[in-house]
Amino acid sequence: MPPHLFRPFSIRDVVLRNRVVASPMWQYAATDGTPSATHTVHLGRLAEGGVGLTIVEGTTVDRRGRGTVGDLGIWRDDLVPAHGRLVEVIRAGGSVPGIQLIHAGRKGRRNPPWFPADHPDPDPTDWPVLAPSAIPIPLPGAPTPTPMSLRDIDETVRSWGQAARRAREAGYEVIDVQAGHGYLLHTFLSPLTNRRTDAYGGSFRNRSRLLVEVVDAIRAEWPAEKALFVRLSCVDVEWPLDRTVELVRELRRHGVDLIDCTTGGLTGRPATDAPAVGYGYQVPYARQVRARTGSPTMAVGMIVHARQAEAVIAQGRADLVALGRELLHNPNWPLDAARKLGLADPYAIAPPRIAHWLRKRDEATPGFTPSTAGDIDTDVTAAC
Ligand SMILES: Cc1cc2nc3c(=O)[nH]c(=O)nc-3n(C[C@H](O)[C@H](O)[C@H](O)COP(=O)(O)O)c2cc1C
Repeated sequence: MPPHLFRPFSIRDVVLRNRVVASPMWQYAATDGTPSATHTVHLGRLAEGGVGLTIVEGTTVDRRGRGTVGDLGIWRDDLVPAHGRLVEVIRAGGSVPGIQLIHAGRKGRRNPPWFPADHPDPDPTDWPVLAPSAIPIPLPGAPTPTPMSLRDIDETVRSWGQAARRAREAGYEVIDVQAGHGYLLHTFLSPLTNRRTDAYGGSFRNRSRLLVEVVDAIRAEWPAEKALFVRLSCVDVEWPLDRTVELVRELRRHGVDLIDCTTGGLTGRPATDAPAVGYGYQVPYARQVRARTGSPTMAVGMIVHARQAEAVIAQGRADLVALGRELLHNPNWPLDAARKLGLADPYAIAPPRIAHWLRKRDEATPGFTPSTAGDIDTDVTAAC
């Protein structure tokens, strides 16, 4: 049998060639929502590197919900053909195309993280920042968001549904809803950022209402054969894991297939039981959500080494592993991991036009090792 990491994974009618996922990563490179050559390069190298699923960065469902001016968008019908081309690029690499949908909420209208603090802010008149309540992020100069009216909420729910329709038309097979990391849906869930007194605030049921309505609006447009993931911050300040478990059970009843398990992001402060950042630091949440709800999960966060990723899957801690920064370091990580884990014919992961030449090089050179194979594959299995 192949290593667990390289066994296919099926969810609804979606079949992934392996368990390695490219985590969504903002590229800050769109113009008014439209993808650029940067996206083609970024996604193409991830897909060709061998990941089973490539999730396109947080893509905004409503222009007002952008985090930064260069965020990718799917808020207009005329963006569909450009997304169709991203889908093509990902498929050409042998990977399944997925897209993360997002509304940045109170984390909107910001500059990319590496910009100097004195860089002028984007134009506030062009860009109202919306949130459940008028509570800004705790950073100097952060805009105070406008509390959403019931009409705003209704429009937002519809915008997620329309974004799902466009994602379907573009050919994506997986949607990942960003409901963590302090973005709009997360701020509705948390009592720290949601002080509403209407049907969308107060009780846990009321605070989860927007997310459930968004999931329903997506499912109404998203075919039964396609998969729906939700990214949740499984623990955060005043948000224990039990809350996540309760929420996941509800989301499952509304057609959510898999929970993408991350943590934190709401306040910038760590939760009391927050994991210390280190190898696989969020894997325990993927494991617990999976064990307690029966939902498939995806683990993310400092999954770096081949044996580490293999252990996560082999020991049933998660169904998928998502890699972010390690794929920026080495987009061919799956190919490298396949060699390190002893997959028969690891080059089969690469497109034939590449695999052919890599096989020939091995055959022609006894004792040959590629540059990455000699690298250390640190055994950090115990760390997660
Ligand atoms: C450049 C960059 C952009 C990111 N953009 C997104 C995003 O669009 N949506 C999201 O949910 N997370 C985003 N993240 C977080 C990653 O998806 C991932 O959860 C995080 O980096 C932890 O995984 P890692 O340790 O493998 O990098 C981003 C991370 C990086 C490094």
